[in-house]
Amino acid sequence: MLNPAIRRYWPQYEWSNVWSMFRNMKNPPARCEERFDGRTVVITGASSGVGYHTARKYASMGARVVMVNRNAEKSERVRRELADTFGVVVEQFIADLSLLDGMRRAGGWLAGLDGPIDVLIHNAGLHLEKRQETPDGLETNFALHYLAPFVITGMLAPKLEGQGAGRVIFVGSEAYRFAAWGLDLDDLQWERRRYTGIKAYGAGKLAQLLCMHRFAGDFAPHGVTVNAMHPGMVKTETGKDNGRLYQWYKKSVIDGRSGSPDLSAEALYHLGAAPGLAAKTDTFFHLTTEEELSPPARDLEAADALWTRTLGLLAMKGAMQ
Ligand SMILES: NC(=O)c1ccc[n+]([C@@H]2O[C@H](COP(=O)([O-])OP(=O)(O)OC[C@H]3O[C@@H](n4cnc5c(N)ncnc54)[C@H](OP(=O)(O)O)[C@@H]3O)[C@@H](O)[C@H]2O)c1
Repeated sequence: MLNPAIRRYWPQYEWSNVWSMFRNMKNPPARCEERFDGRTVVITGASSGVGYHTARKYASMGARVVMVNRNAEKSERVRRELADTFGVVVEQFIADLSLLDGMRRAGGWLAGLDGPIDVLIHNAGLHLEKRQETPDGLETNFALHYLAPFVITGMLAPKLEGQGAGRVIFVGSEAYRFAAWGLDLDDLQWERRRYTGIKAYGAGKLAQLLCMHRFAGDFAPHGVTVNAMHPGMVKTETGKDNGRLYQWYKKSVIDGRSGSPDLSAEALYHLGAAPGLAAKTDTFFHLTTEEELSPPARDLEAADALWTRTLGLLAMKGAMQ
């Protein structure tokens, strides 16, 4: 019998949707020249790659930069570099965002920050060829790409809503398309299916997109926007936790075809700062080009079901108090 997810989504797929993604890859990001003085950006995973370049871009435009990083040494190096180079305030919180305790500590600390959070960028991510489980018993892609933004955004809801303005941006990936038939809600942790790096990564990014719809709806009456973006295929440290064969492939094939993460930073600055986007919400951008989502990513019933499952999972793990 045909998998019900295939039956559900297959008729909704259109080739034009895929071609437009390929077309959008050629568009450079729009640039925003507005400065960011006196405003605050929060970036997770700013110790390297997309997050680091984005932190530099915001700092160069006068922002107060708040980083949530895992590695204290790398983080301190970046903090000092940005503060010395641009003369801006740079703060940091150290947390492993694949751990429930790390997500909750970061969320609590951010909720207590002085002043509004003007832009919150959920960027921390990784690519794992082999399945890994966190000490909480969660699959790592699921925990870092989806649960961390879910928990942190949820904990920041009262602050963001009270501000009456703010932009939340998920750094997603076109790889969400590899979860072509949606999420398996009965196996979110990849315990029963064959794990592949790209499928689990895609599922984590798809889950992010589904929760974007819910957060965008909840925040809309309060003037807070929630969007997601693909940062381009850019040369970063991603995949550094994989084995030697992967490293060789990345160096000899992927890196040569990848662009500079400065492109991602320009895009993330535009999405966070451009006045024309102040009311734009629940939208996916390829860099800064708006793009229609594939059928599983615009399935609002699946978004509701995932939301309910997630709350149940967090309650079961004792992470709701
Ligand atoms: N590069 C691309 O072509 C590409 C394409 C599509 C989407 N993306 C997305 O872009 C985002 C940034 O990735 P990148 O390419 O810039 O890779 P990267 O250079 O490896 O940067 C990843 C960042 O996330 C942090 N991080 C990883 N695991 C963490 C954890 N458990 N807790 C807290 N922070 C953690 C890393 O910290 P450490 O320094 O401690 O490792 C680093 O700061 C990711 O969400 C990725 O999925 C990248």
